[in-house]
Amino acid sequence: MASRLLSLFALVSVASCHAVDVAPRADSTDSSGKYVKFPVIHSTNQDVFADVWAKRDVWSSKRGIQTLPLANRSDVAYYARLDIGNPPQPNYVQLDTGSFELWVNPDCSTLEATSDIRFCQAVGSYNPSSSSSSVVSTSTKTLRYGIGSANIQYVTDDITFAGSNSQLKSVQFGAATTTVDEFSGILGIGHGENVTIRYKNFVDELQDQGVTDTKAFSLALGSKSEQEGVVIFGGIDTGKFAGTLQSQPIIPAAKSPDGVPRYWIAMDHMSLTPPSGNVKKYDNSTMAVFLDSGATLTLLPQALADAVAADFGSDGTDSNGFYLVDCSLNNLPGTVDFAFPGITIQVPYNEMIRELRTSFGTQCYLGITPNSDFVLLGDTMLRSAYAVFDQTNDAIHLAQYVNCGTNEVEITTSMNMSQITGQCDPPNFRNSASSTGSGTLPTGTATGTGAAAGSTGTGNAAPSLYTASTVWIPVWVGAFFAIGLAGIL
Ligand SMILES: *[C@@H]1O[C@H](CO)[C@@H](O)[C@H](O)[C@H]1NC(C)=O
Ligand SMILES: *[C@@H]1O[C@H](CO)[C@@H](O)[C@H](O)[C@H]1NC(C)=O
Ligand SMILES: *[C@@H]1O[C@H](CO)[C@@H](O)[C@H](O)[C@H]1NC(C)=O
Ligand SMILES: *[C@@H]1O[C@H](CO)[C@@H](O)[C@H](O)[C@H]1NC(C)=O
Repeated sequence: MASRLLSLFALVSVASCHAVDVAPRADSTDSSGKYVKFPVIHSTNQDVFADVWAKRDVWSSKRGIQTLPLANRSDVAYYARLDIGNPPQPNYVQLDTGSFELWVNPDCSTLEATSDIRFCQAVGSYNPSSSSSSVVSTSTKTLRYGIGSANIQYVTDDITFAGSNSQLKSVQFGAATTTVDEFSGILGIGHGENVTIRYKNFVDELQDQGVTDTKAFSLALGSKSEQEGVVIFGGIDTGKFAGTLQSQPIIPAAKSPDGVPRYWIAMDHMSLTPPSGNVKKYDNSTMAVFLDSGATLTLLPQALADAVAADFGSDGTDSNGFYLVDCSLNNLPGTVDFAFPGITIQVPYNEMIRELRTSFGTQCYLGITPNSDFVLLGDTMLRSAYAVFDQTNDAIHLAQYVNCGTNEVEITTSMNMSQITGQCDPPNFRNSASSTGSGTLPTGTATGTGAAAGSTGTGNAAPSLYTASTVWIPVWVGAFFAIGLAGIL
C-alpha cells in the first residue's frame, strides 16, 4: 500500500516548527513492584495529542483555537510515551509487538498530507546534542516494515518514564536520518538480543537493568470508546480481564510460517456469533497467527477473510483491499470469535468494524483484510484481548479484555501465569451493543447462518466514492502495518 496517507486530525491552522512541548502525564506509575506501566494512547486521543496542538496554536496563532476536530478514526495506532535523555525529551512511539527495535525521529517533511505532517510533529523528537547523556555511534541500519522504512543511526541514552521512578541507563536505539511513510517512531517489543538483533532491545534492557523481574509484558490496548489502554512491562493488571489466563506456547521460529521469531501462536479456529446466537464455525480457520499491535487490521488468508466478510454482507474487497460493510452492523450484539486452546476471544462487531468519517459521509469497513503473505491478529482483534507476552516462558497468556478497575501485580519468575485470574465478570455481548433489533438492518439481509449481513450494493456510497475524485486522498486508506521485516541476526 503505497498511499498510506493518514489524516489523523482534521486540522485547520498552519503548523509551526517549534519543538514539541508535550504535556506531562502523571498516570504512568510503578509501585514497590518491579514493573513499569504506561498508558497506551490511541492516536485519536484528544486529551493527549490535542493538548500539543492547543499549545502550539497559542504560540503561533492568530486565534486561540483550543481544540481541533479529530477525524473519528479511533483505531489507527497505539502509542507509549518515552522520555529520552537528560534533560528528558518526550517522544510518543508506536507500540509494536511485530518488530524488534526502538527508533525515533520520523522525517515529517517526506509526508504529503498536512494532517499527517502535523501528527508527525506532534509525536515529538529527540536531539542527541541536547542530551548530556547521549552517545552517538557511527553504526547505521535500515529498518523495513510492512509499510514504510527508516534509516537509523544508533545512539545510546537514558530513558525515563513519566510518573515513574524507574529508569533505564544507556539504552541503544535508533535516531532516524531518513524515513519513508513513517510519521512516528516505533517501539518494537518483539524478541531482542541473540534472537533477532545483536544488542539489547527495550524489553531486554528492562529485565537486564532490574526494572522487571522477567521478560514479559501485558498489553490491553483499550476499547475504541476508552481511547486509552495500558501496557505493563513486568506486571499484569487483573482489573483488565475476565477468567483465568490461558497459556499459549509461542511457536518457535523454525516451526513458524515465516521462520522469524515472533509472537506466533496456534489458533484453533474462528467463528461468528451473530445477533441470532447461531454460531457459525469457519472452515480452514485452524492456523498459526501472530499478534501484532503495530498492525491496524487483522490479516487472514483470502478464503477465510472472504467468508467472514460475506457474513457481514460484503461480496469482496475494494481496490484498497478493504471490505465495505453496512454501518448499522456496528450497533448489533454480535461477535467475531477467535478460539485458542482454553480460550475464545470474542470481538464485538463495533470493535471489528472500522467506522471512518470522510468528506463523503461515514464509511464502514471490516477490520479484516486478505493477505497472502501474513496471517496476523492486529488491533481490530487485540483490543478485545488481554495478552501477556512472556518471552521468559515462551508463551502468550490470553484472556478476554474487560475493564473493571485496576489491580497491578508484579510478574515474578516463580509465578504460574496459568493460575492468574482476572477480577472482572465476563462481558455480556448480547446486551452490550446498543441494539434496537433487526429493525436497524436493511431488509432482506439475514443469511442462512443467522449472520447479520448488511446490504450488498444498495445504499452504499462506495461507487461514487471511488469515482468522485482521483486527487482526493481517502483518509480511510490509513492502516499501519508495522511488521519488522528486517532486523533478524
Ligand atoms: C466524531 O463523532 C462524534 C460522535 O460520534 C461527532 O459528534 C463528531 O462531530 C465527529 N467528529 C468528526 C470530526 O467527524
Ligand atoms: C546474548 O548472549 C551473550 C553471550 O552469550 C550474553 O552475554 C547475553 O546476556 C545474551 N543476551 C540476552 C538478552 O540474553
Ligand atoms: C478448505 O481447504 C480445503 C483444502 O485446501 C479446500 O478443498 C476447501 O475448499 C476449503 N474450504 C473452504 C470453505 O474454503
Ligand atoms: C501451572 O498451572 C496450571 C494450571 O493450574 C497447571 O496445569 C500447570 O501444571 C502449572 N505449571 C507448573 C509449572 O506448575
